[in-house]
Amino acid sequence: MSDGKLLIVDDEKVAVKNLEHVLKKEGYEVTATQSGANALVHLDKQQFDVVLTDLRMEKVDGLQILKKCRESWPDTEVILITGYATLESAVEAMKQGAFYYIAKPFRLDEVRKVVAQAIEKVRLRRENNALREQVESFQGKVRIITQDGEMQRLLDMSRQIAPTDCNVLITGESGTGKELFAQYLHHHSRRAAGHFLAVNCGAFSEELLANEMFGHAKGAFTGAATDKKGLLVAADGGTLFLDEITEMPLSMQVKLLRVIQEREVLPLGATVPVKVDVRFVAATNRDMQDMVKQGEFRQDLFFRLNVVNLHIPPLSERREDVPLLAYHFLKKCAARMDKSVAEISTETLTILKAYDFPGNVRELENIIERGVAIATGNIIETAYLPDDLRELSIRTFRKKDGRLPSLEEQERDYIHWVLQEAGGNQTLAAQTLGIDRVSLWRKLKRYQLEAQ
Ligand SMILES: Nc1ncnc2c1ncn2[C@@H]1O[C@H](COP(=O)(O)OP(=O)(O)OP(=O)(O)O)[C@@H](O)[C@H]1O
Ligand SMILES: [Mg+2]
Repeated sequence: MSDGKLLIVDDEKVAVKNLEHVLKKEGYEVTATQSGANALVHLDKQQFDVVLTDLRMEKVDGLQILKKCRESWPDTEVILITGYATLESAVEAMKQGAFYYIAKPFRLDEVRKVVAQAIEKVRLRRENNALREQVESFQGKVRIITQDGEMQRLLDMSRQIAPTDCNVLITGESGTGKELFAQYLHHHSRRAAGHFLAVNCGAFSEELLANEMFGHAKGAFTGAATDKKGLLVAADGGTLFLDEITEMPLSMQVKLLRVIQEREVLPLGATVPVKVDVRFVAATNRDMQDMVKQGEFRQDLFFRLNVVNLHIPPLSERREDVPLLAYHFLKKCAARMDKSVAEISTETLTILKAYDFPGNVRELENIIERGVAIATGNIIETAYLPDDLRELSIRTFRKKDGRLPSLEEQERDYIHWVLQEAGGNQTLAAQTLGIDRVSLWRKLKRYQLEAQ
């Protein structure tokens, strides 16, 4: 372990060399670059403790690097190096969260001191965070990782409605995080001290589900030797999560509706109903409105459950969450398996970002878990991805001889493929490609695809 990971960015070669040399001697692990754009690439794939950057650079400047750090790595401290002329922007940068600015020409002992302070701050915060995470996991707090605008909106809304007791219907494809949102609602509600119980409405036969949810009185049927408390009673004062609600048989739907309306449960074979105070959060990956139309789901129950709807977008519609989640799962899995895997290679991230994830976040979690399990070094390389994912990228980009295609070749192949997909219909193909028919015709001629 080094004393800290640093990224140095300065378009002046001498300055970079100088800083790199001095800070390496201090025991830091140093990555140095003369280009701001290059620095952004580094920041795409790994976290640094401290970034030391020149403020004024061509193309990508220090402020952009600061912004990138604030967005992607809130724990990273940024130190700006600035000439006299840019002092004002340096002050502005402090306002935007830079740790410090060092004026040029700088003294090396000043740089050493400021870097050490920044590293210390990062170390302390990390300790705090680790403690807080321990405490939070102890309290069962739920963390939903995202940087997507729509997801942020859903989180805001969840916090807003959590304290009200209204029922919530969470919709979204499989593996998008529906259960996680249900837990999030529970933990932000006044019921947080109560139970969060979950039942999968599709996992039981009708009788078992009824027994599970309503419970029974002693002697209600042969074999019922004692009273059994149903989930509805057990969740009193808490939240009951009804997973795969659409799989609930119609006869059970009637009974559930009664519970919601009357706020009481009659266990099987019992004569006196039990008062219950339960908040219902239901989830489904199916189109419930359509099911209501088809008569497969009771409309009255649908209205009772769907007081607020949270629709979680599939991961393919928020690809910028992919690296964030990948690193989140990487940390979790590495800690659990006690492995030192800490990075994901750029190529791996590129493939992941391009992948569609039909199994959404859960699939990504599994991919990372598998990667961590089989990784021998401390980087998740493409070799640790499942074969079909790896091939996907190779099939898309690489030619048979292993060479990467030119833009023209790629365009030709793509047009060819779209035309095939459109069954040879040029109007349709042009529409898909977003060009007019004449342009398509020209391209077909140029690439000698007209005969197809
Ligand atoms: N935004 C997120 N941040 C962190 N972890 C997440 C996030 N979204 C999902 N997960 C994790 O991904 C996994 C799948 O999430 P969850 O079980 O909530 O999905 P689901 O929508 O209920 O799936 P299904 O429809 O298959 O039941 C869980 O391990 C969950 O903790
Ligand atoms: Mg689920």
